[in-house]
Amino acid sequence: MQDFDVVVIGSGPGGYVSAIRSAQLGFKVAIIEKYAVMGGTCLNVGCIPSKALLDSSEHYYNAVHSFEEHGIDIAKPKVNMGQMIKRKAGVVSNLNAGISYLMKKNKITTFHGLGSFDSAKTVKVTKEDGSSEVISAKNIIIATGSKPTILPFIPVDKERIITSTEALKMKEVPKHLIVIGAGVIGAELGSVYARLGSKVSFIEFADSMIPTMDKTMGKELQKSIAKMGADFYLSHKVTSAAVKGKEVTVKAQDSAGKEVEIKGDYCLVCIGRRPYTDGLNLASAGLTADERGRVAVDEHTLQTSVPGIYAIGDVVRGAMLAHKAEEEGTFVAEVIAGQKPHINYNLIPGVVYTWPEVAAVGKTEQELKAAGIAYKEGSFPFKALGRAIASGDVDGVCKVLADATTDEILGVHIIGARAADMIAEAVVAMEYRASAEDVARMSHAHPTYTEAMKEACLAATAKRSIHS
Ligand code: FAD
Ligand code: NAI
Repeated sequence: MQDFDVVVIGSGPGGYVSAIRSAQLGFKVAIIEKYAVMGGTCLNVGCIPSKALLDSSEHYYNAVHSFEEHGIDIAKPKVNMGQMIKRKAGVVSNLNAGISYLMKKNKITTFHGLGSFDSAKTVKVTKEDGSSEVISAKNIIIATGSKPTILPFIPVDKERIITSTEALKMKEVPKHLIVIGAGVIGAELGSVYARLGSKVSFIEFADSMIPTMDKTMGKELQKSIAKMGADFYLSHKVTSAAVKGKEVTVKAQDSAGKEVEIKGDYCLVCIGRRPYTDGLNLASAGLTADERGRVAVDEHTLQTSVPGIYAIGDVVRGAMLAHKAEEEGTFVAEVIAGQKPHINYNLIPGVVYTWPEVAAVGKTEQELKAAGIAYKEGSFPFKALGRAIASGDVDGVCKVLADATTDEILGVHIIGARAADMIAEAVVAMEYRASAEDVARMSHAHPTYTEAMKEACLAATAKRSIHS
């Protein structure tokens, strides 16, 4: 039996990063992935392919809607869905090869097959051809990720009623895409098809889009997506969905019980994701998943109730984000090595890659109010930014929330062009517990979008923004 110091089950951003960090720390490492390709949800059916399609659809949308204004005359552009999906697949396979290279470079033994616990110290790998092998390990890291949540009364046939996985490999542009759930996936993939010309109807249980983010963000994002002709059925609960030939009929009720019926040719169900431990045989290791399917871990070590078994990423509590999984991957390897690493969960940024982008870190206004924390707010609109006017991307706002007494930045919420990259400044500032005054006094290159952050900090400190 092959014996390892660390065996990682799952090769998503949590798993492969923990394998690399473990190898860097001198451990003998193996990684088990049930699919033929490495990279997990994020690389194969998540972050990367969705961003490839977001970028392609944005190019198309700009070519149709803003090239002329910029003085670029071209023949009317057409969508070539086959090529768009082929390009996306190329991006993914390029990065699949990159992860395999990193495994080899770090001398990590890779197993392709289903990993299941044989005992608390041994894992059975069942390969596609049915053959199996048992390996042993001093430490095992569960990094098996998540799968889409499905409503029991919605018949997801993966043809007409689809999840994000199918929405990333469409053969045609839907005429009318009904999106159930206006959260992160709904906003991103709904945008892709709205840009490509689909009519998009969002049905959302909450009273705004991306409801877990600061309310201003959802309101502004809805305005910008509505400009592409999208419809919103907010505060609506889906009651049924049915497919007849090429037509999907979805019924929903508003809070007063009034029913609407929406007909489209595709329906994307994106109402959240659930931790995935199917086939892992947790019981053989003496483990169970909680009522929400998560593997419980100790906050200080990410160790499960069984010594030597750890869990990270989407399969444990917390934000289901690739960079959160990566931080936990590094964290666990360092815990196993006897180090004392640290993760600041309050400062994991959240980004929605629509256009304009939405990015946030720290507390929302609603959270500060609920916690009774006195705060100051400073906002700066993108339409007053020289750089935004030069590029024509004037929709957006940067909002900074600072402690009313100490001026420490408690939350930053940005909707606007390049917000995804801008949020890194807020993360660094908040990690060092900067005040709004600190950032307001730092030089920001002109003309850049980052000036919105400086101006919002000026606004948060005695309303002294210069340009608004
Ligand atoms: P996963 O990436 O889910 O990887 C788990 C791996 O474990 C999979 O490869 C699976 O096959 C394997 N596995 C499971 N069980 C077994 C087993 N028993 N044996 C062997 N292997 C097994 N996050 C962001 O931060 N930014 C984004 O832009 C973003 N975009 C997204 C877009 C979409 C459409 C989706 C669906 C998700 C997106 N996410 C994004 C979320 C992100 O993909 C996840 O948070 C991240 O992939 C979680 O990483 P993980 O390592 O925990 O698990
Ligand atoms: P989500 O939690 O972001 O959004 C789901 C939405 O569906 C919520 O707004 C919720 O109110 C709504 N909803 C739930 N039940 C409903 C019902 N019965 N009828 C109508 N609406 C209903 O989940 P989503 O969009 O599926 O994404 C899953 C996860 O994947 C995200 O939470 C995020 O962690 C990750 N992700 C991250 C991305 C990023 O970082 N850019 C991109 C895509 C996904």
